[in-house]
Amino acid sequence: MRPGAAPRRRTAAPHGQASQIRNALGGRSIVLIGLMGAGKSAIGRRLATALDLPFVDADAEIEAAAGQSISDIFAEHGESYFREGERRVIARLLRGGQMVLATGGGAYMCEETRVTIKDRGMSIWIKADLPVLLARVARRDNRPLLQNGDPAEIMQDLMRTRHPVYAQSDLTVESRDVPHDTIVAEIMTALASRPAPARPDVAE
Ligand code: S3P
Repeated sequence: MRPGAAPRRRTAAPHGQASQIRNALGGRSIVLIGLMGAGKSAIGRRLATALDLPFVDADAEIEAAAGQSISDIFAEHGESYFREGERRVIARLLRGGQMVLATGGGAYMCEETRVTIKDRGMSIWIKADLPVLLARVARRDNRPLLQNGDPAEIMQDLMRTRHPVYAQSDLTVESRDVPHDTIVAEIMTALASRPAPARPDVAE
């Protein structure tokens, strides 16, 4: 230390907070769930940076495994084929070490996937209101479920059927029209004050 320099105070620096959260997770991954347009990928990417963990997007992994876009998988093979691939890809990813994983909106509706996530992850529901979801999904036309009908009606139906299931997640965070970094900071605070659920450590 320079003579006369004040000793550096230990604060709850993001770095310390990140390693505290990672340790509390005991090897488990953070798994983001929620409806289309909730911001799972954008928030997940930033959360992974904040936690110094790899970020993985399940939809992108499904597309890579299939060598096709999700729209093409739906169009050529149908939804149940997509769901089967989704289940397999998420199980494989969650066996592969600690990460922040963003899942597609339907993934958590599969009971087997919910069990895998419970065993190997900590689930966070990124919850958003209908207007926020609709504004975000309107930016792209890459979501086959919204192509056949009025997106607002489809989304409301999905909210009715999926929200009670999403509510089984370990943590819920309200996503709204604020910068994604605000949501990430809220998640970090929630994780730091409420560590992972009491489950045995996951071996890598
Ligand atoms: C789906 C959500 C999409 C994608 C697929 C089906 C769903 O992912 O997996 O179009 O069932 O809600 P996002 O939630 O990332 O848009």
